[in-house]
This record gives sequence, structure tokens and C-alpha cells, in this order.
Amino acid sequence: MSPQPEVHIFANADKLAQAAAERFVETARQAIAQRGSFSAALAGGTTPQALYRLLAAPGFAPRVEWRRVHLFWGDERCVPPDDAQSNYRMAREAMLDHVPVPPENIHRIHGEAPPTAAAAVYEADLRAFWGSLPPQFDLILLGLGDDGHTASLFPGSQAVFESERWTAAVYVEKLAAWRVTLTPVVLNLGLSVIFLVAGAVKAAALQRVLESAADAETLPAKIIRPEDGNLIWMVDQPAARSLTNLTKHV
Ligand code: 6PG
Repeated sequence: MSPQPEVHIFANADKLAQAAAERFVETARQAIAQRGSFSAALAGGTTPQALYRLLAAPGFAPRVEWRRVHLFWGDERCVPPDDAQSNYRMAREAMLDHVPVPPENIHRIHGEAPPTAAAAVYEADLRAFWGSLPPQFDLILLGLGDDGHTASLFPGSQAVFESERWTAAVYVEKLAAWRVTLTPVVLNLGLSVIFLVAGAVKAAALQRVLESAADAETLPAKIIRPEDGNLIWMVDQPAARSLTNLTKHV
């Protein structure tokens, strides 16, 4: 039996965002105290928007030493950075425009470039940042799709089982769109890997990921098993409504 996942259930999306912001601040504080910097890979989509806005708000922004923060993305849509679909634009509008992260510490994926080139440039940026060290992010934020995808690791994608490259350009049939994503090679090196899941629409996928025997090809989020880091699920009540009590032990 795999070890019980660490699942934290919050009454609603706002309380989930508050708790995630507290965790971000504390993880950053510890990393900066220990190593002088804090590296995080941000999630895209809509769920983390509330978290990013909170981190830019007076209750949280002053508690982060932003000049020591390095921000990357778990994935990006292959669109220009000012496109409404851009994960970079979402984070920039919700947080980056409002906190003093040095521009050189913001490592966006170049969605405007051809997908394969964008993935190669992102991998080069990652390798330049980490040097000879493994890409061990202090914090990786992930979302969960209602089909069990995470980052841009979608059901049936070969990228789910990539074992060498740090990034991949993936064509997502169901979206008829290209994406660039971190691969499990990087995602499973994270020291703290946190899924943020909110909304009843995610309940079935969350229950299947946490409680079913389905494989990662069907439910890519199941490929996320940090080698040394902590895996934490932060979910709201609506998303948790299908979980059995076995999982709700935290
Ligand atoms: C993306 C994300 C993706 C997202 C899930 C959940 O680029 O869309 O990386 O993996 O986290 O699809 O998205 P929502 O938070 O919008 O439900």
C-alpha cells in the first residue's frame, strides 16, 4: 500500500489560497535562511490566481524577501506573453507586477517561440540556473485538470514518462494546442510539491488520482511522486467531496 498522501482540506477556495500563501511564505523563508535563495515553479491555469494575488497583497508581500526569489513555470501555453491564455501573463498581472522580484529572476517559458525551440531554450535556462546541481526546486506548485493532467502532462502523452529531458514540447489533441512543460524528471525532484485543487468539477479526478489504481498514462498526476521532497495536496471541500475517509486523515 503506497504511503497515505498528505491531504489538507479547506472549507473553500479562499481559505485554500490563504493557507497556500502562508506555506509559500514559510517555504521561502526557510530556503532563503538555509541557502540564500528560493526557487519556485509556478502553476498555471485559474486556481493559483487567488494565491498569487494574495502573495502580492499587504498581508503577505512584505513577508517575502522577493529579491532572493527565482520564479519559473511548471508549464506554459504556446502563446505570446501578453496573450489571455498565457500562464506568465496571469502570474504577472496577479503578482509579478506588484512585488519586487528582480526581472532577471523571472524565468518565463517563451511561449511565443516555436514549441520545440521554446522547450529547448527553457531547458537551457534551467541548466544555466542550476549549473552542475540537479534542478531541485524549493517549491513546485501544480494544478489538477478534470482529466487528471498536471502541468501539461496530459493523458496518453509520452512526456508523462520522459526520463531524461527536463522540458518537453507537447501537442495536446483535445485542446488543439501546443504546450511546453516541465517533465517528471524535474517535478519529482521538488523539495516541496504542492497540488492546489479547488471546485466540485475536480472531485472525480481528485478521488481517482488519490484513491484509484489507475495508472499515470490515464491519470498523469499520479506520476508525481517526489523522490525526496514532500507531496502535499491542498484542496477545498467541493473538490474533496468524493474522497473516502481513508484519505481525509490529515
Ligand atoms: C495550465 C496548467 C494546468 C492547470 C490545470 C488546472 O497551463 O492550464 O498548468 O495543469 O494547472 O489544468 O487548471 P485550473 O486551475 O484552471 O482548473
